[in-house]
Amino acid sequence: MQLSQRAQALSPSPTMAIDARAKALLAEGQDVINFSAGEPDFDTPEHIKAAAVEAIRRGDTKYTAVAGTVALRRAIADHVAEVAGVRYAPEEIVVSVGAKHSLYNALMALVNPGDKVLLPVPYWVSYSEQIRLAGGEPVFVPLSPSRQYRLTVEDLEAHWQPGVVGLILNSPSNPTGAVVEPREIERIAAWVQQKDLWVISDEIYHRLLYGTVRHQSIAALDGMRERTIYVNGVSKAYAMTGWRIGYAAAPKALAAAMAGIQSQSTSNPTSVAQAAAVAALTGPQDVVETMRQEFERRRALAYDLLSGIRGLRPVLPDGAFYFWVETDAWVGRTLAGTVIQDADSLAAVLLDQALVAVVPGSGFGVPHAFRLSFATSQERIREGISRMARLLNA
Ligand SMILES: Cc1ncc(COP(=O)(O)O)c(C=O)c1O
Repeated sequence: MQLSQRAQALSPSPTMAIDARAKALLAEGQDVINFSAGEPDFDTPEHIKAAAVEAIRRGDTKYTAVAGTVALRRAIADHVAEVAGVRYAPEEIVVSVGAKHSLYNALMALVNPGDKVLLPVPYWVSYSEQIRLAGGEPVFVPLSPSRQYRLTVEDLEAHWQPGVVGLILNSPSNPTGAVVEPREIERIAAWVQQKDLWVISDEIYHRLLYGTVRHQSIAALDGMRERTIYVNGVSKAYAMTGWRIGYAAAPKALAAAMAGIQSQSTSNPTSVAQAAAVAALTGPQDVVETMRQEFERRRALAYDLLSGIRGLRPVLPDGAFYFWVETDAWVGRTLAGTVIQDADSLAAVLLDQALVAVVPGSGFGVPHAFRLSFATSQERIREGISRMARLLNA
């Protein structure tokens, strides 16, 4: 059997080696501290679980409309109007099996073979692979560490080329936590219109902001609603990663195209999870704020501890729950008998010698940094980063 060219072209996840090794160590009973998680460690709030139980009892266990129940699309429309400042009709919303699925539908509906899509680097790994799956080609836009990886129009202008049809914007960013300043979002919106591009705006971390930083949704700016696909979901804000509910909001014809693609693949997302998502979006919102405040405390703790480690430069994130840690100073040096060539080899030594798992930056398009998730308890953060310090400061 011959695999399709599409399947063969998919990059194997560069984080898999570390992941497999971490799992093997855990299976041996070793106390590995896992800083690689891309999900909140909190449990889903009780009232959300209760809504799912009630949906099962009520018999909401059948197919729903492909794009999601009317109740959920209405709840999403109200929620997006409130938090992003842009009003969509329920027919302009497609609920999917996670935001990752929404992104996939959007790229499938927009990208033709050979189309180029601007992708700021470091990027969340699924973007590049999904662009390729759709037959397109990512055009990488390296971001500047001196600006804490915040995207600017100048970055985009320097990498624009004929054949570019769109831009993927992810603010707050996974993996850097960077939030593009509102003023810069306005400049990007003007530039995108001048170049006649569409924007996929992945705002899945926008409820997790720290300090005084403000988030501006590009969809809410003049002239942008008709060329933006707004993507969000309940995974990160409501600790609902396993429920698999994400959504896209877009002009009606595009929303219909995305629903059409979904109708021939997954059909509707799980009916019960949709009922839970209604409860998340329309129920008490203090649960989000409670989790955000705890993330903010962990961020301060981790920043203090990481800043004391030789040769590491942590970037203080404005949003999400990741530290992007630059490791350039370690390249070429020897640690525990291993010559450090890049963050992959540094991460391997951290795992073997300190039993700490981080995600090397190669998976995000940057070889000399790693991502450390602070979606774990303060106690584990203290213990894990202390272990790193003992090894690297020795
Ligand atoms: C930037 C970004 N977008 C989208 C997703 C997908 O979220 P989900 O499919 O759980 O809704 C993630 C998850 O890690 C993410 O980091």
